[in-house]
Amino acid sequence: MKEQKDRKNLTVLALESSCDETACAVVKNGREILANVIGSQAQLHAEFGGVVPEIASRLHVEAVLPVIDKALKQAGLTLADIDIFASTAAPGLIGALLIGVCAAKSLALSQNKPCLAVHHLAGHIASNYLSYSELNPPFLCLIVSGGHSQLVYVKDWCEFEIAGDTRDDAAGEAFDKIARALDLPYPGGPQIDLLAQKGCSDIYKFPKVKFKDGSADFSFSGVKTAALTFINKLKQEAKIKNVDYKTLFKIEDFAASYQAAVIEALLDNALDVMEKLSIKKFAVAGGVSANSALRKLCEEKFAIAKSYELYYPHLKFCTDNAAMIASMAYFQFLNRGYTAEEKNLSFGALSNISISDYYKR
Ligand code: KG4
Ligand code: ZN
Repeated sequence: MKEQKDRKNLTVLALESSCDETACAVVKNGREILANVIGSQAQLHAEFGGVVPEIASRLHVEAVLPVIDKALKQAGLTLADIDIFASTAAPGLIGALLIGVCAAKSLALSQNKPCLAVHHLAGHIASNYLSYSELNPPFLCLIVSGGHSQLVYVKDWCEFEIAGDTRDDAAGEAFDKIARALDLPYPGGPQIDLLAQKGCSDIYKFPKVKFKDGSADFSFSGVKTAALTFINKLKQEAKIKNVDYKTLFKIEDFAASYQAAVIEALLDNALDVMEKLSIKKFAVAGGVSANSALRKLCEEKFAIAKSYELYYPHLKFCTDNAAMIASMAYFQFLNRGYTAEEKNLSFGALSNISISDYYKR
């Protein structure tokens, strides 16, 4: 394998294909974006109300080479200019992950350059490095996406400790499921966000979950079941009255109240952990970090605690993209080089492994 010219001056080409986005990006030195291409399949999954794994894999196969070509063109580079290749290798849909992993390995092999395997959630954390040139570990990160709700203590670039986890649904899932019950298009999080902006958040009451053992874990199944029960009752009543159920309540107020219940639980636990661990820097990441009410509430809560620093990624880096994977790959390379599996290209994809365990290997 060719020696890297200058370990700090590196251009990374990364792929992301863990769910329903086929993405390729080229990033210099972990923070400077030369290209960021995202091919979303969301529209094609919308008619099924969620991602269909087999369809996702097939669409990644079709999209992966075009997104690579487009990213190189956007960056004005050729494959020979790339120092490191990388791909999301865990967690996610296994068939979908494998497309990105195989493509990145093939490119690395063809250029005799290293190929790095990145954990998707570490990528989400790194979306903050793209947005803030001064941000370095340690800090606490609230990762809220379609598949995860976690409080991760980022002790160092490749050292993570899970301080809080979801015991059932992820925050994004909690939004998507209620949006689906309300017959809103997929993905539902942004739809709930938009409706809530026109509603009042204290009209409907939802249960708050706080575990007695003092843990900072989350649980959204109670809030979700309460919302579903309400919607189902309303639909039954509408059937009897022969009217549209949406005429029986103000959907904007319902969305605002439900959203408030979810985000308040997230931030209450985050503040508890920060106090317990004496951490002053707090970042948010993942698709749900685009939520306007979450950002507003963060600012309100952190304005009270003035000694805290608050970070959230630029909106374009909240949902899945490959720029965040390229950024993480760069910091991985600088801080731990590459593993034996990365060196001989023998790593595979893992559908389910925590961020802390992934970087202990
Ligand atoms: O991080 P992401 O793109 O994919 C995963 O890794 O899961 O997150 C997607 C999730 C979906 O559940 C989507 O509904 C949610 O992020 N989301 C939002 C918003 N934008 C995306 N949820 C609430 N408010 C938003 N503005
Ligand atoms: Zn994601």
